[in-house]
Amino acid sequence: MNTIRDVPTAPGGLPGVGHLHRLVRHRLRFLESLRQVGPLVRIRLGTAPVYVVTDPALVHQVQSSKGRSFGRGKQFQRMVPLLGHGVITSDGELYHRQRRTIQKAFTPAHIERHLVAIHRQAEKLCATWEDGRPVDVLHALKGLAVAVTAETLFSGRMTDQVLAQLNRVLPVVEKAAVERPMMPKVVDRLPLPFVRRGDEAMAGMRAVVAEAVAACRGQSSRSEGDMVACLLAARDPDTGRPLSDDLVCDEVIAMLIGGAANVPATLAWAWFHLALRPGAEERMLTEIGVPADGPPTMAELNRMPYTRAVMYEAMRLHSVQLVTQRTTAAVELGGVMLPCGTDTAYSQHSLHTDPRFCPRPAAFSPERWLPGSGWEPARHAFVPFGGGRFKCVGDNFACAVMMATLVAVGGRWRLHRPPGLRVGVSVREPVPSPTGLSLVPRHRS
Ligand code: HEM
Repeated sequence: MNTIRDVPTAPGGLPGVGHLHRLVRHRLRFLESLRQVGPLVRIRLGTAPVYVVTDPALVHQVQSSKGRSFGRGKQFQRMVPLLGHGVITSDGELYHRQRRTIQKAFTPAHIERHLVAIHRQAEKLCATWEDGRPVDVLHALKGLAVAVTAETLFSGRMTDQVLAQLNRVLPVVEKAAVERPMMPKVVDRLPLPFVRRGDEAMAGMRAVVAEAVAACRGQSSRSEGDMVACLLAARDPDTGRPLSDDLVCDEVIAMLIGGAANVPATLAWAWFHLALRPGAEERMLTEIGVPADGPPTMAELNRMPYTRAVMYEAMRLHSVQLVTQRTTAAVELGGVMLPCGTDTAYSQHSLHTDPRFCPRPAAFSPERWLPGSGWEPARHAFVPFGGGRFKCVGDNFACAVMMATLVAVGGRWRLHRPPGLRVGVSVREPVPSPTGLSLVPRHRS
């Protein structure tokens, strides 16, 4: 059995800074490079070591068979001052109770019902587009995701004014939630402009959410099944008391952040790739056919294998950058004994683009997901939503939102690439997002 000292360190670290500069400047390339160093690799955030797991079988052990020895990582603990104690950051008994409550809002029956709201919002978005007038795709999809999440959380009881306010503050909060955990704790107390901006945006978001939650208290019977109703109806099994308004707000904020960050980035990338590969777009639009009047059912969405393959391929190529854990007991991983309190992490992005498990990993190829393609993801090597007890609680909801949006938009519009399109990558959100993605909608004739 090796000790933690035997784990190789990634090259390129600097004294005092460690690998922070590489995470700041070329994060995705750096994360990809770690798999060449070994199945378990030490990186340093400043002077603090983090052990990055690059082998899917070991990642699976962290998530499941050895999951009891891993708790919330640094990244999540550092988010507490910003996001509070919602399900994204909590751990232990509180976490299990919160998770059970929230899961009630994501049953298949709820998701089926949410398709109505998703479809309505997607139609609303489609109606704002004009033939030939370029659209900032990511911006449009962010607005859609906030509206959908808010509508499903609050059964449509959030006004357009409140949604506009959320749209303003959310990007700042998301950026702070990704960047702050990579910095030492002391940064939170420094009078730096980006710290102040993050704190102010968070305070603004909390005020909006608190007002909306308070307004729901008196009328929850009218909104059976939305998430706020589930949270307001929940009772502490020990005391029989309802959740405090603060905790309900923390949960709503967790959902808004989870719901509004990753879906728009994934969908925006899907349209980017479709615009570059008209053959794939044609195949998807043929499958979608002529738009029906009402929202699709889950059964209908499940009968669209190519559209689903487009979604999977977008998720594979554009995945969450890094998820962290911390050992809560000494545990063996890949022949190395990790002491209690060791910070570990893994990168979905790196797993999904590993040429050992995915041929031509940089190519956008929905066809690889179709039966008979001769390829299927290696065991545990495709985990866009994580796994184990911290697995994304919104996974099925997210897939429903993405499928229903592809269908609603694809039924009405083709999105063309304008001449000279240059798209960059921003790593400010968990799933890296495209920058400068302006596409030209054309009515489907
Ligand atoms: C493309 C879409 C999405 C992706 C790729 C994604 C991915 C992830 C990942 C990787 C995690 C961390 C898992 C871990 O720690 O092991 C996570 C957690 C979480 N996600 Fe998502 N997510 C997506 C959409 C959503 C949506 C739509 C919601 C809510 C409406 C949501 C809510 C959450 C919450 C609350 C957590 C924390 C769960 C917990 O720790 O129990 N996510 N997500």
